[in-house]
Amino acid sequence: MAKGRRFLIAGNWKMNGLKKDGRALAKSVAKSLKKAKGKKQPFDLLVCPPYTLLGSVAKEIKDTGVKLGAQDCHVAEKGAHTGDISPYMLKDVGCQYVIVGHSERRTDHREGDAVVKAKAEAVLEADMIAIVCIGETLVQREAGRAMAVNRRQLKGSLPTGATAKNTVVAYEPVWAIGTGLTASPEQAQEVHAVIRAELVKAVGEDEGNGIRILYGGSMNPKNAKELLGQPDIDGGLIGGAALNADDFAAVAAGCK
Ligand code: 13P
Repeated sequence: MAKGRRFLIAGNWKMNGLKKDGRALAKSVAKSLKKAKGKKQPFDLLVCPPYTLLGSVAKEIKDTGVKLGAQDCHVAEKGAHTGDISPYMLKDVGCQYVIVGHSERRTDHREGDAVVKAKAEAVLEADMIAIVCIGETLVQREAGRAMAVNRRQLKGSLPTGATAKNTVVAYEPVWAIGTGLTASPEQAQEVHAVIRAELVKAVGEDEGNGIRILYGGSMNPKNAKELLGQPDIDGGLIGGAALNADDFAAVAAGCK
């Protein structure tokens, strides 16, 4: 990680947790941050629970420094969109971040780059931070198209008006999500460097060098330190390991 950027360790809880589990997990994450703070921790901790837990987790982490995020949102402020949640509702419940374009949404809900970009812009409009996810599939990597796919997705999904303050990019190779397979630090850094160069092209030196790029895909206490040691890896978007507060804290401890 380069000077001027601060690590972001984000837990994507996905569709996991009932009230009791969610509260307990949030409480333990807050406790671990309190411990780490004694050592002037170089990272921010973010939890992104499912919608149903946002209210109770918000209460649990109030004034602890742990940040709250959601996993998706609708593009509109309000209206006739049954089952959807607007960015303003998320902000109202205490969210500061919203993940958009996760590969599971791209697959399960057929979200393409244009929708992802519109969602990211809606997040910015509501004065929150968008975490824009991109990443290639195994077929695309094996065909030698990983860089081209990530370039294309980034160009198509990056919100207009992206800055270091309002946007985070998450590189999540689809083949590494929930599979136990992880991109090697070199493989991840190679893509992150490409993303960095594209960001600089899109938004200029200062903002492009300031935007944090997270790695996601089977990140865990064993592999975190090496991944987070790469020059363009500014944090992690953690799935499975974020459901255990000790593992989540151990990943964060890899930030140096
Ligand atoms: P895993 O850490 O479970 O592989 O999930 C990564 C992810 O998709 C985070 O958004």
